[in-house]
Amino acid sequence: MSSSNVAKKQAAMEAIKYIKDCSVIGVGTGSTVNHFIKELGKIRSSFDYAVSSSEATTELLRLEGVAVTELNNCDAPDVYVDGADEATSHRQLIKGGGGALTREKIIASSSKNFICIIDESKLVKKLGSFPVAVEVIPMARSYVARKLVQLGGAPEWRQGFVTDNGNWILDVYNLDLTDSKEFEVQIDSIAGVVSNGIFSRRPADKIIVGSENKIREI
Ligand code: 5RP
Repeated sequence: MSSSNVAKKQAAMEAIKYIKDCSVIGVGTGSTVNHFIKELGKIRSSFDYAVSSSEATTELLRLEGVAVTELNNCDAPDVYVDGADEATSHRQLIKGGGGALTREKIIASSSKNFICIIDESKLVKKLGSFPVAVEVIPMARSYVARKLVQLGGAPEWRQGFVTDNGNWILDVYNLDLTDSKEFEVQIDSIAGVVSNGIFSRRPADKIIVGSENKIREI
């Protein structure tokens, strides 16, 4: 296993310690969360259901024997565990490298406790080196792209990729995210945008940073 994979696994195993007295667990998407899903399978009888942020995660949860339900069928998830592409010391994030940002943001927003699990390489002083994924209704792609250019960004269409919601992704480079909350709101206000990968208005409650031989929390 590569050192970054070991670090991701360490963070995922630490997050398992927070699955106590829970009924519903929200589960994110990505290679870090995949480690968490494996561990979650081992304690599946200690909670009732998982709510999943993607079709890929649902499939893995089912393979581990975890019962999956719809968010509409349950109260607020007790805890949501997900990875990130970038994270700051203020626990603001960029997510969406895997294209699951909309369902991830819905579950993060509705959960009582949001725990983000990352390896050290994801920690940044300021968000924005990683492109901001913007999920768009397909017919609005060009219009939204022009609006994003007006905001100072350089959007690139993630060609060949369709989200679980049947939409497309624009990856936006070069945004100055000094005021990431303001950008999150501005991007969402463009007609045709479903959501964007800046998680500043609802940051994580805790970040678990894994490395090969130590764990720390932010
Ligand atoms: C998917 C995400 C992921 O959490 C993010 O891309 C991190 O992925 P990984 O754990 O594979 O590094 O936001 O939409």
